[in-house]
Amino acid sequence: MTDTCIIGAGSSGVTVAKSLKDAGQTADIFEKGSQIGGMWRYENDNGQSSCYASLHIDTSRPNLGYSDFPIDPSLPDFLSHAQFLGHLEAYADHFGIPEMVRFNTAVTSVEPEGDRYRVTLDTGESRDYARVVIANGHLSDPRMPDFPGQFDGTAIHSHHYRSADPYIGKRVLVVGIGNSAVDIAVDLCRRAEHVTLSTRRSAWVMPKYLMGVPIDQWSGFLGRKLRLPTPAVRRIMAQLIKLGVGDQRRFGLPRPEHPMWREHATLSQELLPNIGHGYIDVKPNVKRLDGTRVAFVDGTDAPYDAIIYATGYNLTFPFLDRGVFDPDLQAGELYRRMVVPAHPGLIHAGLVQPVGPTIPLVETQGKWIAALASGRMTLPPRAEMDREITAHRDYQRRTYLDAPRYALEVDYKTYTRQMLADMKAGQAGT
Ligand SMILES: Cc1cc2nc3c(=O)[nH]c(=O)nc-3n(C[C@H](O)[C@H](O)[C@H](O)COP(=O)(O)OP(=O)(O)OC[C@H]3O[C@@H](n4cnc5c(N)ncnc54)[C@H](O)[C@@H]3O)c2cc1C
Ligand SMILES: NC(=O)c1ccc[n+]([C@@H]2O[C@H](COP(=O)([O-])OP(=O)(O)OC[C@H]3O[C@@H](n4cnc5c(N)ncnc54)[C@H](OP(=O)(O)O)[C@@H]3O)[C@@H](O)[C@H]2O)c1
Repeated sequence: MTDTCIIGAGSSGVTVAKSLKDAGQTADIFEKGSQIGGMWRYENDNGQSSCYASLHIDTSRPNLGYSDFPIDPSLPDFLSHAQFLGHLEAYADHFGIPEMVRFNTAVTSVEPEGDRYRVTLDTGESRDYARVVIANGHLSDPRMPDFPGQFDGTAIHSHHYRSADPYIGKRVLVVGIGNSAVDIAVDLCRRAEHVTLSTRRSAWVMPKYLMGVPIDQWSGFLGRKLRLPTPAVRRIMAQLIKLGVGDQRRFGLPRPEHPMWREHATLSQELLPNIGHGYIDVKPNVKRLDGTRVAFVDGTDAPYDAIIYATGYNLTFPFLDRGVFDPDLQAGELYRRMVVPAHPGLIHAGLVQPVGPTIPLVETQGKWIAALASGRMTLPPRAEMDREITAHRDYQRRTYLDAPRYALEVDYKTYTRQMLADMKAGQAGT
């Protein structure tokens, strides 16, 4: 009997399905688009992909592959979105996943009924399951800032940015300094007339390469090969990065007030040189939109033809009633970052923001979910789940900035170790 439903066939849904299959379990996967790949399929017909034409993955090839399906070593250090999609398709085909997917079918509601879950599809059909794996992606609903005033030029969110073509010869303001903002500013800057990057809090900008080696391979070498503890790895990496980048204030980018590892890394090899060549300038936060001009909080203002808001994403689960799961209150309140404690058959996959890559981390989540579904591992009682959540929230507050952007933050190594220990013990712990 198929007792697991998976919502979504992006990288998260695919790897969870693969682990379930390995564990002898079947699953119904519902995917609203016509193909697998989710976010990594450029112009996906699900209307949900935030992929732009120049997007390259920011984890180097050896750290990105699945444990039993490595990435073709002839591919470059940092795969393009099309190359990663090709790899994901090969992985899914090899393990027979597309046959498990019902494409062009959206889940419209999931309702708990006793200890089971009624799943309704956009065809009107309803089915019931012991568990529902929620893998619908969390980076597609644009979060827009609410600046006072009105802008008369073009304004879009980075979710809708595809290429520099519409911005040739234009003056463009990019708001934010996450990975989307810096990728887009760099993509635009040689073709637009000028690009400004506006940031309210700044960020540590880290290069993709240090001494010719991808930066994540340095941390991998220190942590895994030399077996140094995470704090020591971070201290050494911070010194290496400071040597490689120098003082970012030289480029007009304020030093963040927090230490380097208390926030999500912004990775870019090209941002600082492009600032240094005068293609991009840096401004603080926007104070006011004023027709064709934008005023900044430092008292300066400038004219712009377009604004791109690279201001991140809202967490949205339109098929779940907020009484069942309210993402604004409960996204950081999941047991082992997956299980909704009040409805333990509702299990999120991929709802994490690791220091390190998301994609292989969700492979381990998939194995954990499969251990649960096949009865090889059990969940602890509710009180213990709540204790684990409190302990994780305390750890987050001690380790990262206490801001909404960090509610999903996990440490790759620690979190992987916890999931592996649960599976080994056959009982998920605290
Ligand atoms: C611009 C950008 C760059 C990124 N770069 C990296 C990177 O370099 N490295 C990294 O590890 N991560 C990166 N990420 C994070 C990335 O999103 C995740 O790593 C991962 O690929 C997301 O996979 P997913 O399956 O969870 O979500 P998605 O890829 O979004 O897939 C979700 C799927 O669910 C389907 N779906 C949604 N709702 C429904 C419904 N109601 N019914 C049926 N189907 C539904 C969608 O159609 C979609 O196919 C990046 C994200 C963004 C936005
Ligand atoms: N190449 C790649 O691999 C790549 C490319 C793009 C994205 N990604 C990933 O995709 C995810 C989303 O990235 P993202 O860059 O789109 O979003 P993000 O990481 O959430 O960054 C959003 C940025 O917008 C700023 N911001 C938010 N609200 C604002 C407001 N009201 N006013 C002013 N500034 C505001 C934030 O500043 P504060 O810090 O002050 O909140 C932050 O600088 C991340 O995991 C990222 O790593 C990866």
